[in-house]
Amino acid sequence: MYLVTGAAGHLGKAVINHLLTTYKVPANKIIAATRDVSKLADLATKGVHVRSADFDHQANLVKAFEGATRLLLISTDAMEPGKRETQHLKAVSAAEMAGVSHIVYTSIINASTSAVSFAADHVNTEKFIANGKFKGHTILRNNWYFENVFFSMPNALKSGTQYSAAGQGKIAHIARDDLARAAAAALASDKNEKATYELSGGHAYTTDEIAALVSKATGKPLSVVHVPVEGLVQGMLSHGLPEGMARMFASFDDAIAKGSMSATAADFRKLTGVEPMKFEDWLEANAAALSAPAAH
Ligand SMILES: NC(=O)c1ccc[n+]([C@@H]2O[C@H](COP(=O)([O-])OP(=O)(O)OC[C@H]3O[C@@H](n4cnc5c(N)ncnc54)[C@H](OP(=O)(O)O)[C@@H]3O)[C@@H](O)[C@H]2O)c1
Repeated sequence: MYLVTGAAGHLGKAVINHLLTTYKVPANKIIAATRDVSKLADLATKGVHVRSADFDHQANLVKAFEGATRLLLISTDAMEPGKRETQHLKAVSAAEMAGVSHIVYTSIINASTSAVSFAADHVNTEKFIANGKFKGHTILRNNWYFENVFFSMPNALKSGTQYSAAGQGKIAHIARDDLARAAAAALASDKNEKATYELSGGHAYTTDEIAALVSKATGKPLSVVHVPVEGLVQGMLSHGLPEGMARMFASFDDAIAKGSMSATAADFRKLTGVEPMKFEDWLEANAAALSAPAAH
């Protein structure tokens, strides 16, 4: 039995889709665990087992994970420093108690050296998993999604200016659906390996190169203004962002500047056997949405 936590999130839904369609796992071999089961009524009608699981309520987790042999733990979206780690550790402990044999975890690219403000939550979860009683584990160190471009680009395109503290650092971001494919591949595998995969797209770009590609795809001018990390933080504060959030977002640019997000697709190919989607193709498919305020 294959269990996916966070099954109502964007990534979780896409993983289940790949399990069913790409890896031909029968629906009745899949357990979709989520905080709100009403969001997964469509999967239940397909024969997927839908269960309630909230990492903030550890008491119910062991029952939620019972019967699963391989479990994909999708990292949560908590913003408070340290909260993800607390949630993840509860889920890992419950998976152990439920007798899960192999755990797959979605971490962050180059977690151990990353300047991203919450990288430590991932590193500590990785260590906790490695020291656990599982027969095997697969750590998926996911690079940023192409879809993250939706958060900053609509406003940048409106003003024609993007502020960046990434300097000439490069990022090899990747389609979220490709990361879902990779997670489904790791989950549906019959290997009890102890492995870490750094999952990135096929090409690393500087912020200037990304801006030029976005500009070409949307037909709108976009120039990059390079600022130091602290300058970026102050700019976000002046627009009313809480300091914790501003420092978190600025840490993303810092990580790019320091080179921890520029790995490319060798591990993705190894895990999935296919090429990742190209950024240019993703931009072409999403050009209209990039120009509009979006919720992705
Ligand atoms: N690599 C990247 O660029 C990137 C970008 C954004 C996020 N992420 C990380 O990758 C994860 C999946 O991305 P996504 O696009 O699917 O994000 P999303 O659509 O925002 O989904 C948030 C996820 O967090 C889960 N979650 C939140 N609180 C939880 C709790 N108390 N207990 C259990 N699960 C909880 C949700 O599960 P349910 O709603 O099903 O309960 C859902 O799977 C995110 O949560 C975040 O850790 C990565």
